[in-house]
Formats: sequence, C-alpha cells, structure tokens
Amino acid sequence: MSVSVEVAGGIAQVVIDNPPVNALSRDVRAGLIEAVRTADADPAVRAVLLRCAGRTFVAGADVKEFDLPPMEPHLPDVIAAVEGAGKPWLALIHGNALGGGMELALGCRWRLAVAGAKLGFPEVNLGIIPGAGGTVRTPRLTGIEAAVELVTSGKPVTAARAAEIGLVDAVVDAEDAVAAALAWLAAALARPLPVALSARSVEAPDAAFWAAAEARVRKAARGAAAPGEALASLRHAAGAGFAEAMAFERETFLRLRASDEAAALRHVFHAERAAPRPAELNGITPRPLTRVGVIGGGTMGAGIAVAMLNAGLPVRMVERDAEAAARGLGNVEKIYRETVARGRMSEAAMAARLADFSVGESYEVLGDCDLVIEGVFEDLEVKRAVFARLAEVCGPETVLATNTSYLDPEAIYAGLPHPERFLGLHFFSPAHVMKLLEIVPTGATAPDVLATGFALARLAGKMPVRAGICDGFIGNRILKLMRVQAERLLLAGSTPAEVDAAMRGFGMAMGPFEAQDLSGLDIAAYQRQAARARGQESFAPVGDLLVAAGRLGRKTGGGWYDYEDGKAQPGLPLAVGASIEAARAQVPAKTRARSAEEIVDAILLPMINEAAQIVGEGIASSGADVDLVKIHGYGFPRHRGGPVCYGRSIGFATVVARLEALQAEGLAEAPCAELRAWA
Ligand code: 3HC
Ligand code: NAI
Repeated sequence: MSVSVEVAGGIAQVVIDNPPVNALSRDVRAGLIEAVRTADADPAVRAVLLRCAGRTFVAGADVKEFDLPPMEPHLPDVIAAVEGAGKPWLALIHGNALGGGMELALGCRWRLAVAGAKLGFPEVNLGIIPGAGGTVRTPRLTGIEAAVELVTSGKPVTAARAAEIGLVDAVVDAEDAVAAALAWLAAALARPLPVALSARSVEAPDAAFWAAAEARVRKAARGAAAPGEALASLRHAAGAGFAEAMAFERETFLRLRASDEAAALRHVFHAERAAPRPAELNGITPRPLTRVGVIGGGTMGAGIAVAMLNAGLPVRMVERDAEAAARGLGNVEKIYRETVARGRMSEAAMAARLADFSVGESYEVLGDCDLVIEGVFEDLEVKRAVFARLAEVCGPETVLATNTSYLDPEAIYAGLPHPERFLGLHFFSPAHVMKLLEIVPTGATAPDVLATGFALARLAGKMPVRAGICDGFIGNRILKLMRVQAERLLLAGSTPAEVDAAMRGFGMAMGPFEAQDLSGLDIAAYQRQAARARGQESFAPVGDLLVAAGRLGRKTGGGWYDYEDGKAQPGLPLAVGASIEAARAQVPAKTRARSAEEIVDAILLPMINEAAQIVGEGIASSGADVDLVKIHGYGFPRHRGGPVCYGRSIGFATVVARLEALQAEGLAEAPCAELRAWA
C-alpha cells in the first residue's frame, strides 16, 4: 500500500510512500480517499498529519499517467475529500511540493514547510496548467499577485518565501520535523479552525493589473501557450465562484494535456532524465573525480574552471606564460565578481571558491589531477603539443579531455600513450552557465573514461549528450547548416530582419543573424576558412563579404545590422544590401517574398533532415539526444521539443514532401535515407 494510516495520541499520521518522488498515481489517490474515511470514522482521531516517506513530499501528478485516459478517483475529488473531511488535515512538506503535490497541500487546513523545501507549480513547464485547484485555491490563500507569479512562471519558491507570501503557515527545522509538526498541530487545534480555501473569496484586481500581467507572461513564454492559459485560469478564478472556477481550470488542463506543446515538453522531460544515464554505461564505475586541471584560461578555460569550482572540484589552471596566467586568473575572477554583483553569490562564497583555484605555467602541478580538460587555441599542433606534455606529467589513470569544437579528437591524441583515457568534452560558452556538454569518445576511449565524462556532467549539473566524431559533432554541425539555410534565404529574396523575426516567432531565443552579430562574424569566418583549408565546402557568400568589409557584428558597430548605443537599428544597412546583391550576382537565385512560415520551413526542415542524417550515421544515439543538444546549447524553444520532436509533430512524411518542394526551388538538399525511413 502506498498510503498508510497510523493513529497515536489523537492524531492520524497519513504517510504516502510511493518512490521515487511520491507522485499521485492512481493507487495513491485511492489510498488518500480511504485515509479520509479511516480518519473520519475513528472517534479517537482529532486531526490528521499528512506527510511523505523518502526524499520528498508529493512532487506532482504522475507524469507516466499523462498518456492514459484520466482514471478515478480524479485528483480534484481526492483534494475535495481531504478539504471536506470531518477531521482537519495538516500537510508537512519536506523536499518538494510541486503541482498536484502543492494542490493536495492546499486541500489541507494548514501547511508546514521543512526548511530547505521547494514549493510551486511547475505545470507550465509540462505544457499544462494546474488541474486540481492550483489556479483556484492559491489566489484564495496568497492573494492574486503572488499566485500569478507562482503559477505562470513555473518556478518554485523556497520555504522561507512560501511563508512570506502565506503559502505555508510556518517553517520547521529539518531535524525532528515530525515532532515539531505534531507540537504545532496541538497548538493549532486550540485555535479556531481556518476556513477552507474553497469557501474563501479573492479580491479581484483591476483591468490594468491583468493587462500588465498578460504582457509580462506573453514575453517570458516565447510562444509557449501554457503560461498564458494559466493566467487566463487565474483571471477566471478571481471573478468566478469556486465550483465554476474549478470546472474552467479542469477543462483547460485536460485540453492542454492533449496538446502538441504538452507532448513536446513531456518528451523533453523524459529525454532529460534518460540522457545522464545511458544504458551502455550500466554497471560501469567511473574513475574518481577530486581535482581537475584546465589548460588555457581564455573564454572557455575560465568558464570551465568556474563550472568545476562550482561543482566542488578544486582546479589547477595552466597557461602558456606568466602574462597569460595573470589573464586567466583575471577571467575567472571576473566571472565570480559578476556573479556576486548580480546577487547570485556572496563575497564569502566567492572567496571560498577562489581559494580552491590556482593558476601558473608549470604542468608539474597537474600530477595529482584525476581529469585535465584542454581549452587552448583551436589549432591541431598546439593541442597535440599540450597533450604530449600532459602524457608526460599525468599518470595513466588521469582522464584527458579536449574541448575542441571542430578538430578531430582522434587526430589530436594520435600516437600518444594510453589513448583509452582520452575523450572530447565539448562545453558551450559561457561554460559556467550553459547546460549542454557533448561527450565525444574516440574509438579507443575506455568505458570507465566515458562514464567519467557522464559523472562529471552530473556533478556539475550539465546535460550530457554522447556525440560521435564528425565536423562540428551534433550541435555545431546543425548550426552550420542553419546558417547556410539563412544565407540561402537572403539570396532567395528575404532580409536578415525577416529571417530573424520569423525564427523568433517560432520561439528561438534569437534569430540566426542577430546571434552572429552577438558572437562576432569573424568566429564563424575563421571556422569556414579552416574548413576550406581541409578541403570542405563552406557556403556563406554574404557573410564572407561582410567580414571582408570589416563588419564583424556588435563589436565593430555593425554586422548584419547597424548598432547605435548597443541597439540594432531598423532597416537593411546599405553595406548588407550591397553584399546580398553582389552575392546574388555570383550565385543566381530566383527571388520572391516569403511568409514567416515559409522562412521557418526553409530553416527548420533542413535541420530536421540533418538531425536524421546524424542519427543515421550513429553520431547521435537518438533523435531525443539531438533535441537536447539544440534545446540546451542553441536556444531551440523547449516547448517545441527540439527539431526531431517538432518534425514528428508535423509528420515526417510532411517534412519529406516540403523538403522536396524546397529542393525544387534550390533551397534545400534532398531528404536523406534516414528521414525517409522515419517518414
Ligand atoms: N511523475 C512521475 N515520475 C516522476 C515525476 C512525476 N511527477 N517527477 C519525477 N519523476 C521521476 C523521474 O522520472 C525520475 O525517474 P527515474 O529515476 O526512473 O528516471 C525520478 O522521479 C527522479 O526524478 P529526477 O531525476 O528529476 O530527480 P531530482 O531529485 O533531480 O528532482 C524533482 C526531483 C524536483 C521532483 C523533479 O523530478 C521534478 O521537478 N519533477 C517534476 C515535477 C512536476 O513537474 N510536477 C508537476 C506534475 S504535473 C501536475 O502535478 C498536474 C497537476 O496539477 C494535476
Ligand atoms: P581563447 O583564445 O579565448 O583562449 C585560448 C587560451 O589558450 C588563451 O588564453 C591562450 O593563452 C591559451 N593557450 C594557448 N596555447 C596554450 C598552451 N600551449 N598552453 C596553455 N595555454 C595555452 O579561446 P576559447 O574561445 O577559449 O577556445 C578554446 C577552445 O575551446 C578552442 O578549441 C575552441 O574551439 C573551443 N571552444 C570554444 C567555444 C567558444 O564559444 N569560444 C565553445 C566551445 C569550444
């Protein structure tokens, strides 16, 4: 039984025990109804203490049931039974009270949070809204303003904040929390019983409040529907009676649960939980991780060092000379100073992290590191020299990793000793912020070394995805193609602003051209130059002309856009218009106006095709892995589920047919065999 009832001292303790996170599966719901009956029927019981076994209070409805038809007893009825019980219930929340878990707590007369607990409504992150009173009872408890923030943001609050906004009655210490809750309950029973939330009303705010909230929520949602729907449900709940508000909320919940957005977000939810633990590494023990070396203290080296320090791993950085070492230290300190300035870290915490950090020129200090990550210039010979030196100073057990973006890891370590301890660990910039970590084994990488890469990701809170070796691995290979498509569109009659607006409209964090202006056009140009030197084609006729004209992006005051006071100016810069014309003369193309949908198609469908090709070649283990790469490394909208999930939602057969139409226009390559097989 996942719900037990034990009576002592006039209090029934109802304990939910449904590992791993006490989700409200069907038998838990049934058990709670039964517990209400048991407690009500027992004359010895004065009140109920509801708590959970294991690491957390209820983390929500059971996501695994979302693909099944709703099953009785329904959660709103369970919570109504708790709220209407003859004996009053107190919820004791430790760990997390999320979604349905929070709603269950709202059905109780009182709530206590154990220090350290997190409480909230993450439903919008799953493309749904609370479906058991979250949008109806919360405003009746906290007032509408706090409820809007909680439910539309999907972000949980701390126990302390929950007490501040009235979401819980008090916070208790983790030690002896049950005893503290029993004592608190005894005192509460001596006071008048609080009115059930279903019997309370809400002070309805004015239209200006809703207009401001709507604008805020729409902006943050980047095209996702659920946050706006949550706001609509709150707004309805503020004006309607309890029963009507509950019916409205439930109808919205059930409708959204069946939506593409919810399916996409569930796909991401499951993919994110599967990726850190690939089945191939089951039973393989990673090598120890206690101290990390980082070679190079530039953009990436500094970010990687901070990511490691934040994961609790002391770092020894090695640079090429004293001056560069001083710059490396400065780069690491700058990241921490900015974190402190943003209020995200205390001075003391910064000092503690920096005390674990050293930087110098000597490789000898790396002898006792378990892992060394190289982040020096993207130059094969420079990298090979670094690894030759590392192979001298590090024992054979030390894992050695390269952060190369485009070079072949096999070539970097060719001929060096113990190739089984070598792999690629491809971080993304800024490495202390970005979650994605591509883990790139060579043909020689030992399983326990690969497992160490995944263990490092878990320790550092990164999203690891295994990638095979090819030009750009998974993420940059698709990025490169996306940029090719963006330039093809320019030749075919679209403007950079049209392309960027269409992609933002789809939900991308940024359009392809504004993103290049931010990172600098010279970086991609350098990579194209290197690719051409390797004998590969690299299509960027307009980008090449802009770089030749010194238009490198924001840092030179202009790239694809002109900038004034850091703001992109409207209109097509003359130099960009002229470069497009010049490129059209070189690469003749038929021009015509295109709708935002056509632009999105011309960029995304080839990306889906490339993703299929990448899976077909075994570079990615699954389409879900490609989706995680694009979401966590490249600003792909989470609510679209990644390119492969998006392709599945419109139908791979449709993707093939539309790609063939684009191909006929000279705007895309032919669909690959893998995509045809998916279709
Ligand atoms: N239902 C079913 N299983 C769940 C679950 C849920 N709501 N939440 C987590 N799990 C499972 C995970 O799939 C994972 O299973 P696995 O070990 O087999 O892979 C396991 O629990 C542990 O999860 P995590 O790896 O995520 O563990 P963490 O300790 O890192 O995080 C957590 C715990 C904060 C609870 C996190 O799992 C989480 O955020 N879960 C989602 C919570 C959520 O979205 N709740 C709302 C659901 S919708 C809802 O309640 C609708 C209602 O309004 C009607
Ligand atoms: P960077 O130019 O900012 O830093 C490189 C650092 O390496 C410099 O500080 C330099 O002094 C140091 N260095 C050079 N030779 C060295 C040697 N022999 N020994 C010790 N240190 C040496 O370059 P960045 O951007 O940090 O890139 C580093 C690596 O990371 C490259 O391989 C790059 O392709 C890769 N990368 C870069 C990303 C980015 O967005 N910048 C993203 C992911 C990977």
